[in-house]
Amino acid sequence: MNHWKVADTCGECHTEIAKIYGASIHGVAAKAGVKDAPVCVDCHGEHLILDPKEIAASPVNAANVSAETCGRLPRERADRQACMILPADRVPSYADSYHGLALKGGKLTAANCASCHGVHNILQVQ
Ligand code: HEC
Ligand code: HEC
Ligand code: HEC
Repeated sequence: MNHWKVADTCGECHTEIAKIYGASIHGVAAKAGVKDAPVCVDCHGEHLILDPKEIAASPVNAANVSAETCGRLPRERADRQACMILPADRVPSYADSYHGLALKGGKLTAANCASCHGVHNILQVQ
């Protein structure tokens, strides 16, 4: 249950996802000791893990992922380490974009952060 062991714990069953996550920018950063890099439970929650597809209350559902999951870290911890991971203007500028506005209007097929960047396989841009 220790923060640094969460991915291994979830990965005992979700083997493939844990492997992909481990190679992503978040997994690599977490392994290097960056405490703000998200592990499984930072995005999915702990005891209230929901199916991302069926339940609109899931923080990783298409309707919520951009604001609730990607947008949470800089809001919660405005320290330098977090800002290095996610520049502060990414979430508000997305919200003002065509995609963000369409999503707000209820069009769940509009691109969200994960549509372009991936989910467990998020990699560095450069
Ligand atoms: C003991 C094995 C086991 C462990 C450990 C485990 N899971 Fe699961 N998880 C499952 C099973 C089984 C399902 C149901 C899969 C299904 O219905 O297709 C599931 C479902 C899920 C779902 C919903 C997926 C879907 O398609 O409905 C998510 C998200 C999830 N787990 C995340 C996690 C996270 C995060 C952790 C670590 C905190 C974790 N799991 C630990 C076995 C496990
Ligand atoms: C950066 C946030 C983030 C992290 C970290 C993360 N997930 Fe996810 N996960 C998501 C999102 C977003 C979805 C929904 C994808 C979709 O709707 O297609 C998802 C979907 C899932 C699902 C269900 C769909 C599937 O692909 O089978 C499972 C199971 C799951 N994650 C397990 C894990 C486990 C285990 C870890 C840690 C090793 C993890 N996740 C780490 C954001 C995350
Ligand atoms: C329509 C596709 C798309 C969507 C939606 C999108 N991005 Fe991006 N993002 C990109 C592209 C393309 C780049 C690379 C831009 C470049 O190199 O000039 C990028 C770059 C980034 C970067 C790294 C580079 C930088 O700017 O420092 C971060 C972090 C990022 N996006 C976060 C997000 C977040 C968070 C969201 C959701 C709120 C999001 N993105 C939504 C396409 C998208």
